[in-house]
Amino acid sequence: MTKLKEFPAGFFWGGATAANQCEGAWNVDGKGVSISDVMTSGSHKVPRRITLDIDESKYYYPSHESVDFYHRYKEDIALCAEMGFNIFRMSINWTRIFPNGNETEPNEKGLEFYDKVFAELKKYNMEPLVTIYHNENPLQLTHEFNGWADRKCMDYFLRFCEVLFTRYKDTVKYWIPFNEINCLTTKLGNWNHAGILNGKTEFFIAQIDDPNKRFAALHHQFVSSAKAVLMGKKINPDFQFGTMICHITVYPLTCNPDDIILTQEEDLLRNCFSGDVQVKGIYPYYIKRYFERNGISFEITDEDLEVIRKGVVDFYSFSYYMSNCISSDKESAQVSGNVMGGAKNPYLSASEWDWQIDPKGLRYTLNHVFDRYNVPIMVTENGLGARDTFEDGRIHDEYRIDYIRQHIEQMRLAIDDGVNLIGYTPWASIDLVSVSTGEMDKRYGFIYVDKDNEGNGTLDRYRKDSFHWYKKVIGSNGNEL
Ligand code: BG6
Repeated sequence: MTKLKEFPAGFFWGGATAANQCEGAWNVDGKGVSISDVMTSGSHKVPRRITLDIDESKYYYPSHESVDFYHRYKEDIALCAEMGFNIFRMSINWTRIFPNGNETEPNEKGLEFYDKVFAELKKYNMEPLVTIYHNENPLQLTHEFNGWADRKCMDYFLRFCEVLFTRYKDTVKYWIPFNEINCLTTKLGNWNHAGILNGKTEFFIAQIDDPNKRFAALHHQFVSSAKAVLMGKKINPDFQFGTMICHITVYPLTCNPDDIILTQEEDLLRNCFSGDVQVKGIYPYYIKRYFERNGISFEITDEDLEVIRKGVVDFYSFSYYMSNCISSDKESAQVSGNVMGGAKNPYLSASEWDWQIDPKGLRYTLNHVFDRYNVPIMVTENGLGARDTFEDGRIHDEYRIDYIRQHIEQMRLAIDDGVNLIGYTPWASIDLVSVSTGEMDKRYGFIYVDKDNEGNGTLDRYRKDSFHWYKKVIGSNGNEL
């Protein structure tokens, strides 16, 4: 028996956050309104609303205060340092820097906030891993031209990138231009991922879908990402850029060849397409056929394709929460409550929000993507959304420990398989607002925040049992699980 390979020296251990889900201070120091700021709270069964006119007397908007990282970042970063993080994933809220997205000059106060956050990370030798776009489109760009459906959005985004790359050229090395860019292959991506609103649909989950606009928006993000890579490397050739894919791994429900074909189609469209564009620099053959078969068309210029070819990313990153089964049988096709739908896998358990828990699927996925792209990989989100019980300042979250332990075990097996995995930033460093439901009670953090779904609580922070456990894991470089 050969000895199992260890996590490499210098492996990145940390956690992830996103500005709109943790910062709060939604209208402070010149910040403008983002598309997340007009989303009300909901629950597993009650969808979140989009209210273009904010009415705080009628609705609760969880992003407005969130967990107030804006004022508590020092305490939060110190706690992450205590766990031993050497990397910290965060996003920069576009509307702090360009409040409406269309200004020519950035908002200095917004930049100063991130100066301070980066200084704090540096104090503890934590590498920032910065997502440039994480559901923080300026709302004004929806009003003006329906967000990313229009090419104009690219120019504003690139102006934002230029400010960040110049200001943080010696501070930030790792950049992710777009979080979960592939979500635009489904109608769920319209609002959060592109600020697209067709008609007056109030519920973000039930939007009128126009695939022409949606895939055009995705294309505009591909081109913008590639242009950002090319611009960034001129400003600092050491910058490293990554794709970020919401990887919902799919299995055929049965060995019926119809299930196999459907599963392959689903995998190519949802999981592979965006990575193929961003890592390989090509529009793959299967997507051209998909567009033809579905009557989807939008403008792709020769210049766009040239930029995409040149502006490829350096690393592959993805979120991994669950897997799904695909079935050609209509009866079983949609029985699971997962975000992307799909059939229930009888071998797996699920979270209270019906996300199927599949640690071995992570090893499978790591091998799948490394074989496809052969570039360094980071798992930039993974975690369990669960209700925690707070007892005398203690939170015994052994279910979260179990979930993360099992996924780390599988990452180690994937490393042993030969996968070049370089980092792990589970979701989330700290409790924050859930994207899909707007709840606080769907908790992911190692750090508990005293706040409930209605916005009540002291916002005090507490170390969960998983905090102490993860500290031990990091301290032993993944050996003590
Ligand atoms: C990812 C997003 O899809 O999943 C995060 O990048 C999100 O922003 C996370 O919070 C978990 O999803 P949810 O809906 O439980 O918050």
